Amino acid sequence: MVLRSDDVDTSVMVSSADRETAAAPGIPPPEDVAMSMQHAYLLYGKKTVLSDCSLDCKRGEVTCVIGLSGAGKSTILRLINGLRRPQGGHIYVNGSDIVGLPERDLIEVRKKMGFAFQGAALFDSLTVTENVSYPLYEHTKLSPDEIEKRVDDTLESLGLSDVADRLPAELSGGMQKRVGFARAIVNEPEIILFDEPTTGLDPIMTNVITDTIRTIQSKLHATSVVVMHDMPSVYAIADNIAMLFEGTIIASGPAKDFRRSQNPIIQQFLQGSEVGPIPL
Ligand SMILES: Nc1ncnc2c1ncn2[C@@H]1O[C@H](COP(=O)(O)OP(=O)(O)O)[C@@H](O)[C@H]1O
Ligand SMILES: [Mg+2]
Repeated sequence: MVLRSDDVDTSVMVSSADRETAAAPGIPPPEDVAMSMQHAYLLYGKKTVLSDCSLDCKRGEVTCVIGLSGAGKSTILRLINGLRRPQGGHIYVNGSDIVGLPERDLIEVRKKMGFAFQGAALFDSLTVTENVSYPLYEHTKLSPDEIEKRVDDTLESLGLSDVADRLPAELSGGMQKRVGFARAIVNEPEIILFDEPTTGLDPIMTNVITDTIRTIQSKLHATSVVVMHDMPSVYAIADNIAMLFEGTIIASGPAKDFRRSQNPIIQQFLQGSEVGPIPL
């Protein structure tokens, strides 16, 4: 049989070197790294989204993941909380590799995480208080009184006490996002994942949201992974910045060093320029 080139689906081809990295044993990260993704491969069907993707997130710090639309940023968050499993590689969360864990163990891992989705994803028919209480009824054994206190404190810390009895539809988009944050942090998670918290907001609400993330950070000292591409917001909150490009993290490091990067892909992204190595 003659193999024609169009019989070969290159999108699922992994080179032998890639296969070795994907299958290589993971290396437990040092104690100060709360999340370590090592050589992750993720395909949706035949489409490779992440390829040899590695990222470390330092404990108690904010890491912003930047990248083009469709680059795979949300996918990275889904891998970190185990909503998706990679086809290769390792993902250490608090020292344990979660790849291959059975679902019941992943549920335990997720209890220590908060996930603020891209849309606020609130329950329409529940009030703000009921929405924010939900994870505590679902995942903890706290008494109703303890839950009420925890929810009141969380709403107060995010400036939401006045809207506690409202329904989501009665709130602005920015306010709904903050309620989504309140629900994500009410468990006092060790790791918080924020998916594009400022996308689609006006400049004032964007500032409110970045301030809210800073408030959360100073209250919980969590390890936060924030996907966003609005660079002023990134600089306002990031300790570290990582750039995802063509399936892999091409650079990561302290936010203050990132601006000075000589990498032409990073420079083009930061400047929002049409001219450069990034294909349009
Ligand atoms: N469940 C899915 N099934 C198939 N393709 C998907 C799925 N989720 C995302 N994709 C595709 O994978 C790529 C990366 O998606 P995503 O992680 O959402 O990117 P980003 O968050 O950077 O915009 C996109 O091309 C998207 O269309
Ligand atoms: Mg996304």
